[in-house]
Amino acid sequence: MSLFRTKNLDEALKSGCTTGGLKRVLGPVDLVFIGVGAIVGTGIFVLTGTGALTAGPALTVSFIIAALACAFAALCYSEFASTIPVAGSIYTYSYFTLGEIVAWMIGWDLILEYGLASAAVSVGWSGYFQSLLSGFGFSLPTALTAAPGAIPGVTTWVNLPAFVIMVAITWLLSIGIRESLKINNVMVGIKIAVIILFIVVGARHVTPENWQPFAPFGLSGILSAAALVFFAFIGFDAVSSAAEEVKNPARDLPIGIIGSLSICAILYVAVSLIMTGIVPFGKFLGVDHPVSLALQYAGETWVAGFVDLGAILGMTTVILVMLYGQSRIIFAMSRDGLVPTRFSKIHPKYGTPFVTTWTIGIIFGVIAALVPLNVLAELMNIGTLAAFCLVAFAVIVLRKKRPELPRAFKCPLVPLVPILSIIFCITLMTYLQWHTWVAFAIWLLIGACIYFLYSRKNSLLNEINCNASLTQAETSLPESQQT
Ligand code: ALA
Repeated sequence: MSLFRTKNLDEALKSGCTTGGLKRVLGPVDLVFIGVGAIVGTGIFVLTGTGALTAGPALTVSFIIAALACAFAALCYSEFASTIPVAGSIYTYSYFTLGEIVAWMIGWDLILEYGLASAAVSVGWSGYFQSLLSGFGFSLPTALTAAPGAIPGVTTWVNLPAFVIMVAITWLLSIGIRESLKINNVMVGIKIAVIILFIVVGARHVTPENWQPFAPFGLSGILSAAALVFFAFIGFDAVSSAAEEVKNPARDLPIGIIGSLSICAILYVAVSLIMTGIVPFGKFLGVDHPVSLALQYAGETWVAGFVDLGAILGMTTVILVMLYGQSRIIFAMSRDGLVPTRFSKIHPKYGTPFVTTWTIGIIFGVIAALVPLNVLAELMNIGTLAAFCLVAFAVIVLRKKRPELPRAFKCPLVPLVPILSIIFCITLMTYLQWHTWVAFAIWLLIGACIYFLYSRKNSLLNEINCNASLTQAETSLPESQQT
């Protein structure tokens, strides 16, 4: 029982990896929308203010550095997604290449990433929602507006709006992906329109003197801001977790991943350039709606109102896609026996992993209600950067182990690009706070305990000898797991 035993890739590819019972309904446009839906949210609408304070107008350079780190990772993701188009993203890729223990740990890491992403963004959503409410003269009791300790000197108990939006989106996802995606596509369209509106209107108010000095805090300011605004790009990897619901995964997954990342990178660079061109960066101190503040500063109050509304819709789609991606990862892990089989059961009417969707929705809804935003965001960044390092490493390993495999999309310049991806990610990780590292280590330790106490014993790989196929493994699933 090696810790590094792998699943049989050939048999999985031969069987078409379609045994999970999920419906294949997604095309390339859906995937680009899933990607943009997951990417554009709290990062651009909330964190750009802190980013501008950290890097000055050179925030634009921070965005380019973060985008490069993600681009290298996206090329690696695309190669895997087009070669092994199964649900579960990097978790599944690791299971075929690096071995079970690595796959488990990375799956456990992804549960953290997607869960905290949805929780963090729902907290950002709650802030904008409350600001919108106050515009109409309504306000919630203070105790129900934020997590305990989130606002220094103010007694707060629970972030009720954050919990409510998590439950509402969980419900949407649990009744069917097609319906959820229609809503997602509409909201993504609106948030892109709002950002373009900002760019078009804001460009007229730029005062180039505000870009001087361009990098007041030097390279270290630029890199610190890059580690922070990296958050703004997280989400493109969620595209790969939809693999089993894609009609033509080999062609469409790379389009979805690279397309959505490129669109967002262009928008972010434009937004940060215009934002710091309108407002002297020092004015972003303590501001949690920097994009609309820039418009207010320019006297475009009406447009600022639209941007606020777009931000709320934008963040709603991020929560939706993150929860979606997470339920698919747990689904894949459960199908392999590493988490209890009830989590891979498909609902007979809705065709979704119903129990999984509700379980994670409630758990991370409660976390969103009780944990402050900064804690959630830092942890999410470290989890994601670790996952990116691993996927880059796995690309190199699979090229060495299986050079002959058909790859519909090939990451260019291997091993250079994967190595650059690893270097960029580790550099950004070193700019995160030490207590984030400690919390991350504790999470991985808990994961290791679960692996040795439960997953290792219940893995489906126990039931087959090393020559047995994945197909055999899956046809021997307990009835509760079959559809
Ligand atoms: N990229 C996502 C956001 O900025 C997580 O909200």
